[in-house]
Amino acid sequence: MSETDKMASRPGEVRLARDPAVLPADAGLVFIGHIETPWSDLSACPRNGRKSDAICRVHVSDAYAEGLKSVATCSHLILLYWMSVARRDLIVQAPSFAGTTHGCFALRSPVRPNPVSLSVVDLLGVDGNVLSVRGLDCLNGTPLVDIKPYFARTDSFPEAEVGWAG
Ligand SMILES: C[S@@+](CC[C@H](N)C(=O)[O-])C[C@H]1O[C@@H](n2cnc3c(N)ncnc32)[C@H](O)[C@@H]1O
Repeated sequence: MSETDKMASRPGEVRLARDPAVLPADAGLVFIGHIETPWSDLSACPRNGRKSDAICRVHVSDAYAEGLKSVATCSHLILLYWMSVARRDLIVQAPSFAGTTHGCFALRSPVRPNPVSLSVVDLLGVDGNVLSVRGLDCLNGTPLVDIKPYFARTDSFPEAEVGWAG
């Protein structure tokens, strides 16, 4: 029995027939660095980055450091990161705070077939290939997938709704 098989599911949750964690990788994804945060266990992480003022450090590997050209001109960035210890087999989930079940694509849960998460962060400073940011929610050492500029004019939809969340 695998570690995932041993994991409990909540009532109403649905597991995938094949856990993506054990399927062959095919996207050629490379991690471009890692994220240094104050949190070394999941229970200590904020539920989302807006709930924390902690200053975190985003370490970009030397091989990708040239990609940081002009990043210092940005006030906010979108960070994409890989939730390295998340299970990947729950397609319908019962979040502890909701009391109802929802598909993973209606959730910001790290538990999803590809455990990519995102946060919009305040960029506080750039020192070589290390960015100081505020607005993260991940474990110390979480692998970094990508960095993009946040464009308020195109990325912000103040009228947006998530119906089930009220
Ligand atoms: C609800 S998710 C939100 C992630 C991201 N802000 C998003 O919206 O895509 C944040 C939670 O993921 C969990 N988490 C943090 N780092 C993780 C990691 N490296 N692997 C798996 N789970 C992680 C923690 O429980 C944290 O509170």
